[in-house]
Amino acid sequence: MHDDYACRPHASTKSGKRARFDPVPRSLQANGHPAHRPESWSGILNDLARSEDTPLVVVDSEALRRNCKRFRALLPGVTLLYAMKALPDTRVTDVLGEYVDGFDAASLGEIESLLDRGVEADRIEFNNPVKSPVQIEAAASLGITRFACQSAAEVHKIDKHAPSAEIMIRVRADDSTSQVPLSSKFGTRPQEVRQLAELAGRTSLQTRGLAFHVGSQASDPNLWRSAIEMCVGLLRMSSTVFRDPISINIGGGFPVPYLPSEPRLEHIAVPIFEAVSRNPGFQFVAEPGRFLVADAASILASVIGIESRNGRNWAFLDIGHFQAFVGASRYPYFPYTPYVLNRHGEGLSTQASGNQKHVEYTLTGPSCDSFDIIAPSIRLPEKLSVGDHLVFPNAGAYTIAYGSSFNGFPVPRVLCTD
Ligand SMILES: Cc1ncc(COP(=O)(O)O)c(C=O)c1O
Repeated sequence: MHDDYACRPHASTKSGKRARFDPVPRSLQANGHPAHRPESWSGILNDLARSEDTPLVVVDSEALRRNCKRFRALLPGVTLLYAMKALPDTRVTDVLGEYVDGFDAASLGEIESLLDRGVEADRIEFNNPVKSPVQIEAAASLGITRFACQSAAEVHKIDKHAPSAEIMIRVRADDSTSQVPLSSKFGTRPQEVRQLAELAGRTSLQTRGLAFHVGSQASDPNLWRSAIEMCVGLLRMSSTVFRDPISINIGGGFPVPYLPSEPRLEHIAVPIFEAVSRNPGFQFVAEPGRFLVADAASILASVIGIESRNGRNWAFLDIGHFQAFVGASRYPYFPYTPYVLNRHGEGLSTQASGNQKHVEYTLTGPSCDSFDIIAPSIRLPEKLSVGDHLVFPNAGAYTIAYGSSFNGFPVPRVLCTD
């Protein structure tokens, strides 16, 4: 492993040996997003394409760190948790663990994987609003004290299986600008908050505050602002039943630029920070998933088949819908802009757009299922051939996290730069 910049493969390589990677000059390491330093990131991907079996998910740990710093700089004073559901890889949680205040976990499995990596129980919140009694009890026995709820039934359940725990009440928020709305499934109605808090006040539980989520990949910062104001109003009406200091968890939802038109965090954070600053008596918490990991990882895949049938060009990859692109099917557009690493002489070079002729392809996965379509229509070089490598940037969030090994095609390995 090279001292300057190395990857840690955790499976055999093409040669069956542990892979080594060409050193990347130190000067290229601190320059931020891979897109801002395509030479170095492409260098790593080229090396991997030559030395490793695909498919792979390649994580840039420096980008993970940069995203945490950027989030903190734009929302200072807001406690930062990582919603690990977005990319629950242990090396990712190891890196982020040094830069975030804690973690939002959705299940006992996530909690155990954090505890196994040495994360302290008091840095983990069990913020799935509906949990099984068995998982609540097991989490409590592992030292978890913070739980989310959204109904009287859940309050009673937590009281019974994790007595004296601290709870956050999830309240419904407007999620109409998000790509992945959450409010139809989650959140109590605002008018029910007081009753729920009073009920909790009659149990052994301590009620810490309110939580909301404006939906994932949301685009209107006013939704966070309105939801914060709603929470502040609700909390002022029934402040005596909440434990001091009262928390407001503003969730995740922060968008990433899959399309250039998506708003940047620099834009989104301004009204949110104004709303936070107007309410200094509250402790604000955020738990982004997507924002912290999306642009920190690329998927590296290989073309395994090219066909022209029924008037269409088909490109078959060694990764498909089931391994990594289930989440992409929730968008009105294909969120990734893949580019091809073509063979040139002895090596491979990056061709993000190039001057080659591009044509429409249906991009599909390797399984024997017609549902396994990655993108129904996408422009790729006309001369695409078997063995070419495709890179999908911005692919860290909700890709392999949803992955299955359907049809015997495993979820890709993750390599993470040091
Ligand atoms: C409770 C909770 N917190 C945080 C997140 C992370 O959201 P995002 O990835 O949009 O930042 C989610 C996503 O579903 C969630 O359900």
